[in-house]
Amino acid sequence: MKYMLSTKDTAKPMIGRESSYTHVITVTSGKGGVGKTNVVANLAVALSRAGKEVLVLDADLGLGNIDVLLGLVPRYTLEHVLAGSHHLSDIVIPGPAGIQVLPASSGLPQLTSLSDAQQLLLQSELEEVAKTVDVLLIDTGAGISPNVTYFASAAQETVVVISPEPTSLTDAYALIKVLCRQHRERRFKVLVNMVKSQRDATQTFRKLDAAADRFLHINLEYMGYIPLDDYLPMAVLQQKAVTECFPHSPSSRAFVQLAGQIAEWPVPQLPKSTVQFLWRQLIHTA
Ligand SMILES: Nc1ncnc2c1ncn2[C@@H]1O[C@H](COP(=O)(O)OP(=O)(O)OP(=O)(O)O)[C@@H](O)[C@H]1O
Ligand SMILES: [Mg+2]
Repeated sequence: MKYMLSTKDTAKPMIGRESSYTHVITVTSGKGGVGKTNVVANLAVALSRAGKEVLVLDADLGLGNIDVLLGLVPRYTLEHVLAGSHHLSDIVIPGPAGIQVLPASSGLPQLTSLSDAQQLLLQSELEEVAKTVDVLLIDTGAGISPNVTYFASAAQETVVVISPEPTSLTDAYALIKVLCRQHRERRFKVLVNMVKSQRDATQTFRKLDAAADRFLHINLEYMGYIPLDDYLPMAVLQQKAVTECFPHSPSSRAFVQLAGQIAEWPVPQLPKSTVQFLWRQLIHTA
């Protein structure tokens, strides 16, 4: 049975309206474990509560875990789509607060680098499902693998998550350098996670921004920060988004505030790359 994307809090996905535009936001990082999946899950929940139709794509192919984080049990995953046995619309599952999730499989090393044919297949399938939502949030793996750079290049906004650890900064710089030099990306938003204060966040951001300015001649955009919050790992243990089970916790408040900002971001009118141009054109004309 073929499902399409849906409206809020339904047990099963239903046919949704077509969005006039789809804002594609990829969340990525140089270093692993800095909080990407939690950022995606919680921004998705908060954006949905703010009235947006949200689709989450777990693009951490081979090591996907957003379904586990949200306590979802998918029957099919991107593995089935890439194998050609299912369409993307078949694998969509409803998540908390009315979000929709496209789960990835875990433990499949062959998916860590998609072939050109697989990239094209995924792109055309994504164009089809993404046109019914306002925001497509993409959770990637960490690092500079071709999958990560592919999804960062295909999005309108690339959000790089960093933490105050020095290795997080050097790895984020390495990722930005690859995206800048090899994929001609110039715009990066930086979200600082796991910091004790706003001051720590801006100091952390400035270190990365200074390196990008000096060696790559680009200025990074400071997006904001999520505080280090004991409630967040507690929510992870419960397999729930922190915004769901501890809505008044410091991190939840920060996620809600960030989602409010994102909801106001203008959708770029001009494509930043040919891939995205094709993507957006197909979304508009389909
Ligand atoms: N703001 C925070 N406060 C406290 N702990 C946090 C915060 N953000 C993330 N964590 C901790 O970091 C862990 C890793 O988070 P998460 O899985 O979202 O990272 P990731 O970047 O997606 O990792 P990977 O690179 O493996 O995909 C969480 O399980 C949680 O324990
Ligand atoms: Mg992750």
